[in-house]
Amino acid sequence: MYRLMYISNATVRFSDEELEELLALARENNSKKEVTGLLILKGRTFLQCLEGPKEEVIELFEKIQKDSRHDSLVELIDEDIESRYFPNWSMGYKNINHIDSVSSEKLKNFSLKENINSFDINEISEIFKDFIEVESNVNN
Ligand SMILES: Cc1cc2nc3c(=O)[nH]c(=O)nc-3n(C[C@H](O)[C@H](O)[C@H](O)COP(=O)(O)O)c2cc1C
Repeated sequence: MYRLMYISNATVRFSDEELEELLALARENNSKKEVTGLLILKGRTFLQCLEGPKEEVIELFEKIQKDSRHDSLVELIDEDIESRYFPNWSMGYKNINHIDSVSSEKLKNFSLKENINSFDINEISEIFKDFIEVESNVNN
């Protein structure tokens, strides 16, 4: 199995409805391909973790990269894995615009950064891990 994480910037302002549609489609597609993961949104910045069978994740990532609703996409991490971070989430979602709704300290620190695009790559895995421990009640 394989895990990939990237950061990108939305080129359009997503309404709640548009975001719900994106998530619904993502969850439907991902379930069929045994892909799981988490999408974090802060302002216009997306941080996404995709995990599952390597070919499926790579194929999906190629599709996502071509999506004109975001750009400035930077791949952060790709690694072979033994186990998933998010086995039960076809695509979890967390909006971190409102700090009060964030329980994970590491994710909180991340979301308080002035420039969300400047961070240590090693930090990212730590943020996801901390998030799983703390926020297991995320909406899926
Ligand atoms: C930030 C972002 C994350 C996305 N994540 C997923 C995803 O996890 N799974 C998915 O199928 N599509 C995802 N998409 C949508 C894809 O880019 C693409 O529009 C969609 O997969 C097309 O599905 P279709 O081939 O069924 O029409 C994402 C798009 C954006 C902008």
